[in-house]
Amino acid sequence: MKFAFSFIPALLLGGAVLANPPPLTTDSGAPVGTNQSSKTAGPRGGILLEDFHLIEKLARFDRERIPERVVHARGVGAYGTFESAGDFSQLTRASLFSAKGKKTPMFVRFSTVIHPQGSPETLRDPRGFALKFYTDEGNWDLVGNNLPVFFIRDAIKFPDMVHSLKPSPITNRQEPSRFFDFFSHQPESTHMLTQLYSDLGIPASYRQMNGHGVHAFKFVNAKGEVRYVKFNWKTLQGVKSLTAEEAARTQAQDFQHATQDLYTTIGKGQHPAWELSAQVLDPKNLDAFPFDPLDATKVWPEDQMPSVVLGKFTLTRTPDNFFEETEQAAFSPGVMPPGIEPSEDRLLQGRLFSYADTQRYRVGANYQSLPVNKARAAVNNNSQAGSMNSGNTKSDVNYEPSVTKETEDKPAYLFSQLPLSGTSQQAAITKTDNFSQAGAFYAKLSAAEKERLVKNLAGDLNQVSSPVVKARMVGFFFSANPEYGTRLAKAVGVSLDEAKATIAPLAAR
Ligand code: HEM
Repeated sequence: MKFAFSFIPALLLGGAVLANPPPLTTDSGAPVGTNQSSKTAGPRGGILLEDFHLIEKLARFDRERIPERVVHARGVGAYGTFESAGDFSQLTRASLFSAKGKKTPMFVRFSTVIHPQGSPETLRDPRGFALKFYTDEGNWDLVGNNLPVFFIRDAIKFPDMVHSLKPSPITNRQEPSRFFDFFSHQPESTHMLTQLYSDLGIPASYRQMNGHGVHAFKFVNAKGEVRYVKFNWKTLQGVKSLTAEEAARTQAQDFQHATQDLYTTIGKGQHPAWELSAQVLDPKNLDAFPFDPLDATKVWPEDQMPSVVLGKFTLTRTPDNFFEETEQAAFSPGVMPPGIEPSEDRLLQGRLFSYADTQRYRVGANYQSLPVNKARAAVNNNSQAGSMNSGNTKSDVNYEPSVTKETEDKPAYLFSQLPLSGTSQQAAITKTDNFSQAGAFYAKLSAAEKERLVKNLAGDLNQVSSPVVKARMVGFFFSANPEYGTRLAKAVGVSLDEAKATIAPLAAR
């Protein structure tokens, strides 16, 4: 058998051939005598346990994998720089926005959501778009997606939703019958499903898609004044998507086309860029809309909450090592510098816990000390020890307060305050408004885009075995826009009367 790589010039394999290469070593640095034969008991005997190099090599290899991310397993990353478009200190004390032209280094990871690490990059799926800003007052992770809304609005539903979307525990196949069964109980998913089954559901490349923070966050200025904000970032390469047919053709030729595209274009010096903006809402106007602005299934209409352009980021370098940097990168919506705070959005509140928790398990307790995650600002936290610690504590005063005052907490950095009233509860939000934004999104599509949306949705809905689930889904899309629902009813063979009757009991949820 001929191996194709035997023809690759040495340069492609990592550099020039050295005349006198350094010795191969063990993990502890001792030169290795032979890497070709194990140490055996004579010519016919077994391998000796004392061959430490062999045992170490195999044991180390056995531990090369860490768990893949429970969602967003397949991804690709790049480094870049954010440049502020102005001084936004009236809005936020976040230091990266304090002066026009101020530059902040970044790491960005793009991903697909549901399928495992080696899965094709052509599948219909939201795309993750996570930004890490190494600001001079600590990191800021803006962990967004390419679609501006989400399927659900309460974190308590996330594990069920992901279970329904992941392969069946019995067959290991992703099954539309399972995820539409779940979604047929979630009328609030109508907006996200409409966006996902539109052309936006398969971006042509990671460079050609927008990004959205999805939730409301808070900007807090030095006076402690709070505004709710939604972050959006617009691609300067233009949005481009693949139709289902184009995706199938692409996948047949190259199932990792999006990773290939990012490495190739950045390698050629074509540096992709995005414009970051924030929509701003005064907290006193929180109740002024027919929907709840803290509901992650809603966009904020641009005419009511106009955008402020905060700056631009550009990606200029791919990592030297995929595992060290991209795979061990850890983004968390809870990682925010002074001046940026979470809102009370119930989906975001659950995310604040989930990411750092999974990263302590997935990467290890000291994941924040790894170069890709490490803050560029000084870290003086008295956290110590734990698996894979590389040293943080420089003094024996590894506690606070102390008379030595080596570190102290600063009241200037207290969080903003939120007035509260009422009793605790476990109840849905009051302004659910599950359908109108999905309907408005549909209405704005061109005739060809509408046709593709209905075709894409019908393709998956026609694989659903339960007639009730199918009818409910049609009922939801009909509630968003009667023309949309009627076309879909026809495409999946459901009667509209049945569809309307099946969703009636859910309408009040
Ligand atoms: C990754 C949980 C909703 C975007 C993850 C991971 C978890 C998680 C556990 C794996 C993190 C890791 O292993 O490092 C949740 C929960 C959610 C939620 C509990 C809702 C309650 C969302 C939403 C968005 C989003 C609404 C978009 C706005 C992402 C992205 C990643 C990710 C982009 C990949 C980050 C990376 O590249 O490393 N999520 N997620 N997630 N999630 Fe979520």
